[in-house]
This record gives sequence, structure tokens and C-alpha cells, in this order.
Amino acid sequence: MKPLALMLGVLILVSVGGLLIVFTGLYDVAATRTHGDVANWIFSTTMRRSVARRAADVEVPDLDDRELQLAGLNDYREMCANCHTLPGQPASAVARGLNPPPPDLAVSAQNLSSAELFWITKHGIRMTGMPAWGPTHTDGDLWRVVAFVETLPDLDAPAYEALSARAEGMGGHHDEPDQPEDTEVGDIEREGAGEHDHSSHTH
Ligand code: HEC
Repeated sequence: MKPLALMLGVLILVSVGGLLIVFTGLYDVAATRTHGDVANWIFSTTMRRSVARRAADVEVPDLDDRELQLAGLNDYREMCANCHTLPGQPASAVARGLNPPPPDLAVSAQNLSSAELFWITKHGIRMTGMPAWGPTHTDGDLWRVVAFVETLPDLDAPAYEALSARAEGMGGHHDEPDQPEDTEVGDIEREGAGEHDHSSHTH
């Protein structure tokens, strides 16, 4: 019976400890307070393994398309840059205040597969500042952004500026009706995604 009593004792202690943390207010939720190395390792490893597992089924379209990348640049600037910053630009106040901080996607693009980048962009990462864009965007919209994110490792500030000038006026869900070629790009993944339509794109 002894091991059982010990286990029960430990269980009670852990439960009481947990309740104390919940109710006493002693736990500091401030974003300015950082986790220790062990907690950081647990969170980032859990995140990576979770994403890798779920991204395994994602089918990747051809992303090596300049039009797609240029349209994605405009989406990136509007949807992502405030947190993940633009090449050569300083981090915004939002980016500097977030905990965990938004990673440099030029680095992430080298460590994550296209499928993983897409999965994260679509589903977000719970309990962090990373939003899910799936509820408001089609898969086609999100693949465009991923196509651009994958060019980030090669983009210094001047290269970004040049590309940005070329991308002017392009973009999928911000299309004017007089830009039919962009609509085509946006429709790449839209087939079969029946419930999506342009009216869900509220910006
Ligand atoms: C409101 C801020 C915010 C916005 C806007 C945002 N992100 Fe994030 N993103 C984050 C944060 C914070 C993390 C880190 C989450 C973590 O540490 O688990 C993150 C993580 C990521 C990651 C994982 C990178 C890695 O190396 O682990 C990817 C990929 C990503 N974001 C892509 C995007 C894309 C693409 C967009 C635009 C469509 C976007 N994010 C918009 C805050 C944001």
C-alpha cells in the first residue's frame, strides 16, 4: 500500500499547487516576463512536432511563379509585416511587445517546409500572437503569401524595394475587377473550396 499512499500524496500536492497558482494571482502573466529555457524548449518542440505532423497531408502547389510571389508580397505587407517586419525595416511596436516574439520569416522559410509554412499561416498558433488566417482567407490567398515568404531569404532591403515597385497594384483579394490576370492567380487553389467567396475578405 505504501507506493499508492505516496502517489496519492503527490497527486494531492500537485492539485493543491495547481489550484494555488490559478486562484492566488501569484502567477505573473505579463508579456514582459520571459519563460525559462526549459519551458521555452517544451513549447517550441511541442509546436514544431504538432505542425510537422499536421502539415504532412498538405498538398503543395507550384510556388515558383513570379506573379504569385508578387501578389503575395502585397498580401504579406498588409497581413504579416506589422509583426514579422519587412526586409531592412525596424521591428514595429507590436512586434517588440509580443511574447513569444514573431520570428524572422526569412529564417523560418529556411527551416520550415512549404507545407508547414502554409499550415501555420492557415491555422495560426494558439496562445501566441500568431493568428489563423484560414477563417478569413481561401487556400489560394494563403499560398500566395507562402510563395512570397519563400523568397524572403534572398531579399535584402534594395531587392525588396525593387520587387515591391513591380508588385504595385497586384494582389488577389484586393483586386479591382479590371485586373483579370490577378484573379486567375487567386483562383489557383479556389476550385473545390466551395464555401469560400470574395465577400469573406473583409479588410
Ligand atoms: C499579430 C502578430 C502576427 C501577425 C499579424 C502574423 N504573425 Fe506569424 N507569428 C506571430 C508570432 C508571435 C509567432 C511566434 C509563435 C510561436 O513562437 O510559437 C508567429 C509565427 C509564425 C510562423 C512560424 C515561424 C517559426 O519559425 O516558428 C510563421 C510561418 C508565421 N508566423 C507566418 C505568418 C504569416 C505568413 C503571416 C501573414 C499572413 C503572419 N505570420 C502574421 C505573430 C504574427
